[in-house]
Amino acid sequence: MAFLKIARMGHPVLRSRARPVEDLSDPEIRRLIRDMIETMDDAGGVGLAAPQVHEALRIVVVRLPRADGGPDTPPVPTGAVALVNPSIEPLDEEVVAGLEGCLSIPGLRGIVPRYRRILYRGLAPSGETVEGEADGLEARVLQHEVDHLDGVLYPDRMTDLRQLTFETELPFLLRGMEGAEQD
Ligand code: NI
Repeated sequence: MAFLKIARMGHPVLRSRARPVEDLSDPEIRRLIRDMIETMDDAGGVGLAAPQVHEALRIVVVRLPRADGGPDTPPVPTGAVALVNPSIEPLDEEVVAGLEGCLSIPGLRGIVPRYRRILYRGLAPSGETVEGEADGLEARVLQHEVDHLDGVLYPDRMTDLRQLTFETELPFLLRGMEGAEQD
């Protein structure tokens, strides 16, 4: 296990198109997935894509918080999910604006339009095919992470760069964003 160095915006690996994983039984791939989960958790992220750790491979990991215990209970992290060679498609045309950040763009947040509901497919680390529907935050995070595999960063998806802000100034942005969904 190891913490991996996270590539920051400007590094070419974040702008390259990642290649599919061909052999999931390769121990190097299995180790990479474990290290990606450990790196994501250590950095406090909800998702991480392999190009963010300088590996141009089509792998994403996600660990979402889930508020299970009612309004007074802090969100509990769910199990981490790894998806290899993932693909996503929108289930309908509905798009929602929501707040995003990225471990490769530390200190900044932006309002990004994303499909509300998607269908995702990919391989689990075991090699089994995984397919499911996602909405809300899960759909947003999956779209963000799969974008990384195609060299796309969230500011590229923004429709108004005035909504890109430092985290320390976030209250000013949110004040002007009434009505937007805050993921
Ligand atoms: Ni990101």
